[in-house]
Amino acid sequence: MQYSDLMPYYRLVHLVAATFWVGANFFMACFLYPAAKAAGERGSGFLGIIARINGLPFWMNVSAALTVLSGVGLLSVLSSGFEGRFFAAPYGASLLVATALTLVAYFHGFLVLRPCGMKMGALGGQLAAGAGDAAEGLRKQMRETLDRMSSASRQEAFILLIVLILMVMAKFL
Ligand code: HEM
Repeated sequence: MQYSDLMPYYRLVHLVAATFWVGANFFMACFLYPAAKAAGERGSGFLGIIARINGLPFWMNVSAALTVLSGVGLLSVLSSGFEGRFFAAPYGASLLVATALTLVAYFHGFLVLRPCGMKMGALGGQLAAGAGDAAEGLRKQMRETLDRMSSASRQEAFILLIVLILMVMAKFL
């Protein structure tokens, strides 16, 4: 079996994982966070359930990692082992820019969204345990954290939209 024989498998994993990652991201940025914000405290509780019981952050991480790994596999086959010539042409250059943007989105999620999600979980736990006089302050912190998550998620969705356009159009440039 030659290295390039892996291409269809890389492609399959890449497209399935990218569809899940980008689709979930758009759903969260455009529908889930705005609805959670409108629902107030119940909305934050619902987000907590999705995170703890359904494991959405875990599946987002898995799909993001599979997208990146299979993408690098595709790139290595297409560029015959990352030869510079491939990246000098418009097709390779577009894929390279899209790859760089994907890494920005990936680390943005890891460094901004993940800590916000963890903070929401901790605040929710404190509220559920009965925070007494501190409850109003905790609710305010939850609203602020949800605002930050919502705008970070919109930024990530925007970057991934550009990546998607570049990946799909690269061949035709
Ligand atoms: C490190 C990140 C990534 C790398 C290295 C990468 C690499 C690649 C490569 C080399 C191809 C061309 C495959 C071919 O022509 O057969 C491709 C196709 C594709 N990629 Fe990515 N990709 C990455 C991230 C993403 C992300 C985040 C998305 C979604 C937003 C995405 C969506 C797609 C799609 C839809 C195609 C199919 C394009 C077509 O067949 O016309 N990729 N990717």
